Amino acid sequence: MGKVVEIFGVVAIFVSFFLLEANAEVVTNNTKKKSCDLFEGSWIFDNSYPLYNSTACPFIRKEFDCIKYGKPNLEYLKYRWQPKDCVLPRFDGKNFLRRFRGKKIMYIGDSLSLNNFESFLCLLHVAVPKAKFKQEIKKQTVTVTFEDYGVEVILFHSNYLVDIEVQPNVGRVLKLNSMKYGRIWKNADVLIFNTWLWYLRSDSKQPWDFVENNGTISKDMDRVAAFRVGLNTWAKWVDTDVDTKKTKVYFQGVAAMHYHGSEWGEPKVKNCFNETTPVKGSTYPSGLAIPVNIVKQVLRKMSKPVYLLDITKLTQLRKDGHPSIYNGLHGFDCTHWCIGGVPDTWNQILYASLFPSSLKHSM
Ligand SMILES: *[C@@H]1O[C@H](CO)[C@@H](O)[C@H](O)[C@H]1NC(C)=O
Ligand SMILES: *[C@@H]1O[C@H](CO)[C@@H](O)[C@H](O)[C@H]1NC(C)=O
Ligand SMILES: *[C@@H]1O[C@H](CO)[C@@H](O)[C@H](O)[C@H]1NC(C)=O
Ligand SMILES: *[C@@H]1O[C@H](CO)[C@@H](O)[C@H](O)[C@H]1NC(C)=O
Repeated sequence: MGKVVEIFGVVAIFVSFFLLEANAEVVTNNTKKKSCDLFEGSWIFDNSYPLYNSTACPFIRKEFDCIKYGKPNLEYLKYRWQPKDCVLPRFDGKNFLRRFRGKKIMYIGDSLSLNNFESFLCLLHVAVPKAKFKQEIKKQTVTVTFEDYGVEVILFHSNYLVDIEVQPNVGRVLKLNSMKYGRIWKNADVLIFNTWLWYLRSDSKQPWDFVENNGTISKDMDRVAAFRVGLNTWAKWVDTDVDTKKTKVYFQGVAAMHYHGSEWGEPKVKNCFNETTPVKGSTYPSGLAIPVNIVKQVLRKMSKPVYLLDITKLTQLRKDGHPSIYNGLHGFDCTHWCIGGVPDTWNQILYASLFPSSLKHSM
């Protein structure tokens, strides 16, 4: 099926991913706390969805604007994520803006961070459609300020989180032990990181010529090993440099792609083009993949609290939620997600974790 879309150059690569778990505490009454795994559950048809009309959201780029580009079946907008033991609160944008007055929330990573960031902006905008906002685009950042609240929502584009620098007489070097923008990031109040896909790119798709690891520069190295080193550099930075009393840190887990029907029990299917419903139930047939376990291992060893937005499983079940050909780049995209759509759920989970008292037990 010909072309594959690239946004910030993230290619649709053919790997399958798996899930991790993380818990949220649910306050059922003043004394008792029950645990609810927000990432175990299923997708339920709910006619009150979507949470906003994407036509009215001014933040959606052509990559993700599936309705504008003619996605024929809009049922993908109608599914609500139902965790097993609790109910996700609806995203209350006004409450968020009031509680985050004067604060900064920053998404840092590749085009899946962009995907998440735009969903978040739409969720805020629909709550205060008349509120003034200002948008500023600089080299690596997009900043949207909701001026009545002084809330800044920032996208910081960084494909690897670690640095790429041009070294004279050498070329572009991916520096796995260096993360110079941390000094900017740590000033925000909420940080949501993501990286992985770019570590797999090679040849002309790769934006560096050499890789530096532990003081040694070489032409290349095992990419999974490079991802682990890069992620450890990030983890060490959080542990030493981020004041997590002031700044909440999230890691946006690996989102699933849908190019192999065998993963969901339809071996003849090669992409998401004909998919109009989620996988039923709460299990996804395909096996474990590497990056998810690496993320889990690295996060477990950290000393500071970091919340894993463990979206792998819930995205695996959503083969219907991708732009497919219905995007403004004229490619085939089963890697990113339509907006509105699945990323709205990632932000509902973010919201629930920022405001835990908004979670209700479903018993
Ligand atoms: C809270 O605890 C009290 C006393 O144990 C119990 O009677 C009540 O049903 C609980 N409320 C909820 C919402 O679970
Ligand atoms: C969304 O908004 C557009 C433009 O305001 C309108 O034409 C359309 O009917 C709306 N769609 C829904 C489902 O409300
Ligand atoms: C880095 O290099 C030093 C000296 O060359 C070596 O002793 C050390 O084990 C290396 N560390 C890692 C993590 O590879
Ligand atoms: C979608 O389904 C139709 C009808 O079954 C089939 O002819 C077509 O090849 C499928 N398209 C893709 C891209 O899989």
